[in-house]
Amino acid sequence: MSQHQLPEHLLRSLMEREQKGLLRKLNKRTPPIDFCSNDYLGFSREGFLSEAVRNIEPLRKSFGSTGSRLISGNSDLIEGAEKHIALFHHAPSALIFNSGYDANVGLFSCIPQKHDLVLYDELIHASIYDGIRLSHATHYKFRHNDMASLQDLITRHKSSYNNIYIAVESVYSMDGDTAPLIEMVDLCRVHERTYMLVDEAHALGVFGKQGRGLCSALNIEKKIFARIYTYGKAMGCHGATIVGSEALRNYLINFSRAFIYSTALPGHSIDAILCAYKLLIETNQQERLQENIAYFYTKASGIKKFIPSQSSIHSMIVGDNTRAEELEIILAKNHLHAKAIKSPTVKSGTERVRFCIHAYNTREEIDNLFTLLNVF
Ligand SMILES: Cc1ncc(COP(=O)(O)O)c(C=O)c1O
Repeated sequence: MSQHQLPEHLLRSLMEREQKGLLRKLNKRTPPIDFCSNDYLGFSREGFLSEAVRNIEPLRKSFGSTGSRLISGNSDLIEGAEKHIALFHHAPSALIFNSGYDANVGLFSCIPQKHDLVLYDELIHASIYDGIRLSHATHYKFRHNDMASLQDLITRHKSSYNNIYIAVESVYSMDGDTAPLIEMVDLCRVHERTYMLVDEAHALGVFGKQGRGLCSALNIEKKIFARIYTYGKAMGCHGATIVGSEALRNYLINFSRAFIYSTALPGHSIDAILCAYKLLIETNQQERLQENIAYFYTKASGIKKFIPSQSSIHSMIVGDNTRAEELEIILAKNHLHAKAIKSPTVKSGTERVRFCIHAYNTREEIDNLFTLLNVF
């Protein structure tokens, strides 16, 4: 049999997806008006990053990093970047990973141990869940943003485990709402050996002074065990960093398999990350973004089906996969790019179209969008 033939049972899985209208496909042509990408600040689309990177002297000669950080891929550049990032995020240390997915898998697979417990929000990102599953810890989910549900799990299980790790996102990628971080930090104060791990993927560049994120905006940076910042969203480039104590960095270098067994990011990626941090300080893109979020929010509050959100992500629930797809198509015909998010990616009954707001969206684009939404 040809090695290029997929086994029967895998073909069947694909067919089943297709029959349910859920087959994922890669699209090349997308409508031009962007309510879809994660480039919230426009660092990529508006050319800020390419311009900033072009001005770096001297141009990098080598293209790859040549190995993992522990073999040949380490450099003054990457260690210097980590020092800069740690300072910016008011943390003792920082460790760069190749992506947000890698950072979460690398962190959650090696920190919780066999006799520990991980409590995670039911809407947690797949990368965190995958990391948790790779660990040997017990894990339970709590209801989305529900403090009573979290508190109940802690009270019931605390005495049976050595440590409890709480996994949340500061901004949830599908709903756009924010976690009750202050209340969670208070909970950790009451319960010994309970630690917070916060994924700030969608908060970096959006919340806090110079876009430092939601933990910074709430002044709780020092109360979080580990924070994850990803660079593929508002920063417009690629990669991620985990910030926390010096001992945490040291532990990850020794035990995080996603860090140890992967070629390090190349110099030009580190350049881009550093340029993005500079742009956070030197441009007013965060202000432009916030103005658009406020404008969008006012319009969205007139439509009951929107999940209330102060972030760049706004979701309009339409309640089934066909309707969500229909709306995506109507928008596309009007040159607007927004994505239908279908079940089982989201819970049945909460199928939606998700809108991402950017610094570069114009008032006219937002008005045109709502003209269509109001009659859907
Ligand atoms: C909350 C969250 N964490 C982590 C990731 C993964 O980040 P990256 O795209 O850098 O792998 C994503 C991206 O989808 C995300 O939404």
